[in-house]
Amino acid sequence: MQDILESVVVTLHAICLLIISTIRNCFPMGWLLRKDVRGQTVLITGSGSGLGRLMAFEFGKLGARLVLWDINEQGNKETLKELEAMGVEAKAYTVDLSEYKEINRTADLVKSEVGKVDILVNNAGIVTGKKLLQCPDELMVKTVSVNTNALFFTTKNFLPGMLESNKGHIVTIASMAGKCGVAGLVDYCASKHGAVGFNDSLASELYALKKDVKTTVVCPIYINTGMFDGIATKWPTLLPILSPEYVVDCIMEAVLTDRAFLAIPKFSYIFIALAGLLPTEVLNLYGDHFGITHSMDHFKGRQSRQA
Ligand SMILES: NC(=O)c1ccc[n+]([C@@H]2O[C@H](COP(=O)([O-])OP(=O)(O)OC[C@H]3O[C@@H](n4cnc5c(N)ncnc54)[C@H](O)[C@@H]3O)[C@@H](O)[C@H]2O)c1
Repeated sequence: MQDILESVVVTLHAICLLIISTIRNCFPMGWLLRKDVRGQTVLITGSGSGLGRLMAFEFGKLGARLVLWDINEQGNKETLKELEAMGVEAKAYTVDLSEYKEINRTADLVKSEVGKVDILVNNAGIVTGKKLLQCPDELMVKTVSVNTNALFFTTKNFLPGMLESNKGHIVTIASMAGKCGVAGLVDYCASKHGAVGFNDSLASELYALKKDVKTTVVCPIYINTGMFDGIATKWPTLLPILSPEYVVDCIMEAVLTDRAFLAIPKFSYIFIALAGLLPTEVLNLYGDHFGITHSMDHFKGRQSRQA
């Protein structure tokens, strides 16, 4: 009897959470209370360009102190310079995230030079854009090192400080490629599935610990940052290439309102639900119909632009 009663209570609680989450996902942004990040330290990996740089500017505008990590020293310096011109306190570190010893070394440096990190944004990422049989082994290994393995080590270094103060936030910039498979993105999709799995397990561990450290995982479709230059979707109205500014607005909203999962654009939620239900043959048929199967055929990537 006790078990049945408990199950009823849990189910009612689950229904309330489902309603709240559906309202948050469906309504326009901007109406929820946002947390205050003034004076907090935000570490962003991959801050030398694209989403990482734009997120640094947004956190800077809100009064946060920035710690910038990138392998691209020049790009990172440019981000730093712009932040300083905005009057934002920031420090840049050159670090190769594919080397875990370098992550550990740089994290120790940050802890001694800056102190505790309150919000960690695991954003850095790479893509080879090559089909499995054409992709050099070392590039596949590097993709997984940067897109997945680095998350273990950045988080292992900065989570203890958050647990100690019972406050903090780990943000994982994954991708819709972490929720489905796409031709020409075998290593990338595998690494982003790893990033989603990392976030989900971490969220579960934190829930079990009953600690107030939040997690957010972000799954956008293609974005016009340069990383995926050359890709094309057959039906751009249905499958648009997103603007980095729009994506960063959505990410900021999600982080500041402690949202656990963000897919961009909104119709992706329907896709994710269907992808869990439909057989692979049907998914492949629709993938072909909507041009996703061939979206990487003319991929050029970052080489065609400045970082
Ligand atoms: N652009 C897209 O279409 C798209 C779509 C979904 C998800 N994402 C994800 O968003 C994140 C940001 O991507 P972006 O579009 O801003 O791309 P970007 O290329 O502009 O930014 C990635 C940053 O990561 C840095 N980086 C790469 N390798 C590194 C390493 N070994 N060590 C340290 N830094 C390294 C790069 O120097 C760069 O500054 C990535 O994780 C990417 O996978 C991008």
